[in-house]
Amino acid sequence: MGAERHFLDVSALDTVTLHKIIGRGRAFKGELAAGKMSQPLAGKTLVLIFEKPSTRTRVSFQVGMQQLGGMVVVMSEKESQLGHGETIVDTARVLSRYADAIMIRTDNPQKLAELAAFGSVPVINGLTDESHPCQIMADVMTFEEHRGSIEGKTVAWSGAGNNVASSWIHAAVRFGFKLRLGCPATHSPSPAALAWAATEGGDVAVVETAEEAVDGANLVVTDAWVSMGDENPEMRHQVLLPFCVDEKLMARARPDALFMHCLPAHRGEEAADAVLDGPQSVIWDEAENRLHVQKGILSWCMS
Ligand code: CP
Repeated sequence: MGAERHFLDVSALDTVTLHKIIGRGRAFKGELAAGKMSQPLAGKTLVLIFEKPSTRTRVSFQVGMQQLGGMVVVMSEKESQLGHGETIVDTARVLSRYADAIMIRTDNPQKLAELAAFGSVPVINGLTDESHPCQIMADVMTFEEHRGSIEGKTVAWSGAGNNVASSWIHAAVRFGFKLRLGCPATHSPSPAALAWAATEGGDVAVVETAEEAVDGANLVVTDAWVSMGDENPEMRHQVLLPFCVDEKLMARARPDALFMHCLPAHRGEEAADAVLDGPQSVIWDEAENRLHVQKGILSWCMS
């Protein structure tokens, strides 16, 4: 790997850099609101590779890059040679001759690592089965907009220990907050992420019930119970039923607690309508901040 500024995981960057990126995102958001957009990426090109579906990631990266003065090329696996046998290593070498940065959404984290290792431009993780760092950067930015610094606060996760949960684990260490993950034993968080947090001295705990996780929390977070490719959706629904974030569960958090969901939501499953649309929900700000914080990531990667 060369000296490129990759954005591969929250755990891969230091706290100062992560704060700097969020600060850039906040500044870009301010510029946009004031109608005075700077275009630091004029003349630059970003390639977006999607091997899985997306609404927020695709649109926010495309709009963000355009607002920064650059342009975007969107590639899907099926419509490119990636889906017809060309290796990710060769793809990395070729795309590096055309583009200034590459974002990839893929099920396979190895592909992300190979793009970064064999390309010669910055690579951004737009979600793998192991993590979703862009999402968590937007979430931290959103929390801090509403409640000030997240350092020392308590974040509760209720649901399956999935890729988003892993990025929350990484963020707990880097941003210095407490994280309580309420997950069924059958869907516990990534052992690798938990081991990393333990090594780094993070305040991260896995608990057996949603109630234990949410009691006294400053922020309650959940995510879909079934993602594309997950096996046995009926069984997942059964074991995850007690982890639904409804009004009763939210009432166990602090009165000023916020609620987040990275979306898309499955209303009435992982969260009740009354919570998704309730006064503590900041899900639309969270979705909007994908745009702003990713502009921070793009400008950091390509500066
Ligand atoms: N939260 C998120 O990544 O949304 P998309 O799957 O729509 O990109």
